[in-house]
Amino acid sequence: MAEDAAAVAAAAAPAEGESSQNITPWDVEAGDDGVDYEKLVRDFGSSHIDDDLLDRMERVTGKKVHHWLRKKIFFSHRDLGEMLDLYEAGKPFYLYTGRGPSSGSLHFGHLLPFLFTKYLQEAFDVPLVIQLTDDEKFLWKDLTLEEANYLAYENAKDIIAVGFDPKKTFIFSNIDYMGHLYETVLRIQKKVTLNQVKGAFGMTESMSIGQHSFPAIQAAPSFSSAFAIPLRGQTDLPCLIPCAIDQDPYFRVTRDVAPRLGFRKPGLIHSKFFPALQGAQTKMSASSETSSIFLTDTPDIIKTKVMKYAFSGGGETLEEHRKNGANLEVDISYQWLRFFLDDDEKLEHIAEEYGSGRMMTGEVKQTLVDVLSDIVLKFQADRAKVSDEILAEFMSVRPLDF
Ligand code: TYM
Ligand code: TRP
Repeated sequence: MAEDAAAVAAAAAPAEGESSQNITPWDVEAGDDGVDYEKLVRDFGSSHIDDDLLDRMERVTGKKVHHWLRKKIFFSHRDLGEMLDLYEAGKPFYLYTGRGPSSGSLHFGHLLPFLFTKYLQEAFDVPLVIQLTDDEKFLWKDLTLEEANYLAYENAKDIIAVGFDPKKTFIFSNIDYMGHLYETVLRIQKKVTLNQVKGAFGMTESMSIGQHSFPAIQAAPSFSSAFAIPLRGQTDLPCLIPCAIDQDPYFRVTRDVAPRLGFRKPGLIHSKFFPALQGAQTKMSASSETSSIFLTDTPDIIKTKVMKYAFSGGGETLEEHRKNGANLEVDISYQWLRFFLDDDEKLEHIAEEYGSGRMMTGEVKQTLVDVLSDIVLKFQADRAKVSDEILAEFMSVRPLDF
């Protein structure tokens, strides 16, 4: 039943004493305390990533796991154990992730799945496909086809700057790759009913038929048959999908339909959301300029945004702060440092000093500004090196090396 897409809509209604939250691929609304990830795992029917699984990943790859796994930022999965079994038995997977090009630049939230995918690609030494859903953004947003397609190529440069291996990575625009994808899309479309899509996504009848059929297009890359050339005709390669948990409805539908098509179900690794500047009630979203820090922002803009908008868990007055300390759970600057300050001792120090009221919000914000500025400056330098030739290489339909 957990896999049944229709069950999810029903489970979305809050039980007594639970805060209401609404998490879909296009909207994240949480209660005052932020997203209840325990409830999501229960409602969606996924599993927690426990320490045994992490130890096992370290044994299999011979590498320390990414710090986002130990911190439970990547916290939930489907069939990750099976993926490791297959990998150890000499049947490695390919990785699949994606981006909906709704803005010219990625924001820090988008770095989560992409940086994490880079770690997975290196640790497991496997091929990767990245879907750019310019078709989706054309259907949902006020964008022309040309604009959406243009944004896909701009976003591809951002993604390349993250540092993927060009020999093992294929990035594609749906609009341009559809001829190759279409057979797999059709097989899926034939087996998924309107009721299933309505159940999983809450689609309403006033939405276009393009929107109703879009889930099949995001599902298709989960099956290696969609990549006859890049994956060298291997029709039975297992697939592992890293993404934030908002994308899970697509892959519940995908996993539901897979056995009926004679395909293997994709495995998943889910992350939590990188919260908006204003607080953890919602995620950072490219559609909201003031909730987000973009990778194109300058250190000055970053400083202004953090100082002005980052929600503070510090006390209202100096006296109160000294007495009670800061509430780290709701403090956005501290929460963001948990994601992007890869120095456990320093983080622990901030938690202690700030949490007890000895350190002030201004100092924590400044630390955050420094950390984010370093990241964007390095990113912008790498982005400037992505030439049209490099872009064409990543996006050409060619056999990958594996
Ligand atoms: P999009 O462009 O909304 O998001 C791209 C990826 O970034 C994740 N993400 C976030 N993660 C953490 N914190 C945030 N604030 C945040 N905002 C976005 C998303 O979960 C996603 O992993 N339809 C998809 C594109 C897509 C895709 C896929 C994503 C196509 N195929 C396969 C994942 C896997 C979309 O519009 O993503
Ligand atoms: N989440 C996307 C954004 O805010 C937009 C979006 C709208 C979307 N409809 C969707 C994503 C359907 C996935 C599926 O940028």
